[in-house]
Amino acid sequence: MSRRLSLLTPSGRLTLGNLLGALRPMRAAQDDAECFYGLSDLHALTTPRSPDALRTAIAEQSTLLLAVGLDRATLFRQSQVPTHTALSYLLECVATTGELGRMIQFKEKSRRQESVRVSLSTYPVLMAADILLYGAEQVPVGDDQRQHIELARDLALRFNTTYGEVFAVPEITVPPAGARVMDLADPTSKMSKSGADAGSIALLDPPDVVRRKIARAVTDSDTGPDAVRADREAKPGVTNLLEILVACGGSPDGVTTYGALKSAVTDAVVAELDPIRKRYADLAADPSYVHEVYRRGAEHCREVTAPVLAAARAAMGL
Ligand code: ADP
Ligand code: NA
Repeated sequence: MSRRLSLLTPSGRLTLGNLLGALRPMRAAQDDAECFYGLSDLHALTTPRSPDALRTAIAEQSTLLLAVGLDRATLFRQSQVPTHTALSYLLECVATTGELGRMIQFKEKSRRQESVRVSLSTYPVLMAADILLYGAEQVPVGDDQRQHIELARDLALRFNTTYGEVFAVPEITVPPAGARVMDLADPTSKMSKSGADAGSIALLDPPDVVRRKIARAVTDSDTGPDAVRADREAKPGVTNLLEILVACGGSPDGVTTYGALKSAVTDAVVAELDPIRKRYADLAADPSYVHEVYRRGAEHCREVTAPVLAAARAAMGL
């Protein structure tokens, strides 16, 4: 059975975009792959955030992964499996500053900051370690991460050539993403967990908040009988609402006004989030259960990855 690895960074509140684009496909994959899922909490430290905010995001996100049904995967936190940072350092001795400087995401993120943490530039190396420790063949990522997957392959091949065959370098496939959900307030940009709150539906938003956000979603000034139609270029807001509606099991049949569309989308999204919010409340009432799941997950990960780290160390002469 092939291995699938997917880590989400606890850098904000998981959104409807994360659910439809990532968590749902992750849930479905549990049937036919050995899945390692969890929180890339070390990646969260590549940009400044307060310890309290990080703790809150970690607690919420680790509980949410269970609440959405990822209970047949090995769930873990990157920071609780020390082989990740250990292998990352060894791979830093194989990577070059030149290739890390060419990473598009690094260039974009560092341009926006006055002082850039070293870990922001080495982030793709830690991600390579994440992948190579598990010999993961399926690594679902967004387009902005594809370059990092190529780097992981490059580093594995270079390591093997320089020090001997340690890493299996499978064709790492990026499984097709689920729906791409756009921001409700600015439908030309992706709904994001770090984005403006008004345009982003958090998975734990209660029904009245969902209703208000969708009611305020940007549409356009069309009023004709065929105003409710998909056209990504000319009508991004309406198209986004139609896609959310269908992805959440609703139907646009008979919907002719934006008011009716928004009401149908609200009903579908509320129905989709309802069971998640309820399951979350049950789990949050017993944090020791969630802790135990992640403790066992980390233990399993340490066992699975220790031989790979040991082989890499030995190959390098340590
Ligand atoms: P990170 O990669 O830092 O954990 P993201 O929230 O950018 O955080 O992405 C996590 C996963 O969710 C990725 O697989 C990404 O493709 C998916 N995702 C994020 N936002 C959306 C969105 N608006 N629509 C669809 N998928 C999304
Ligand atoms: Na991201």
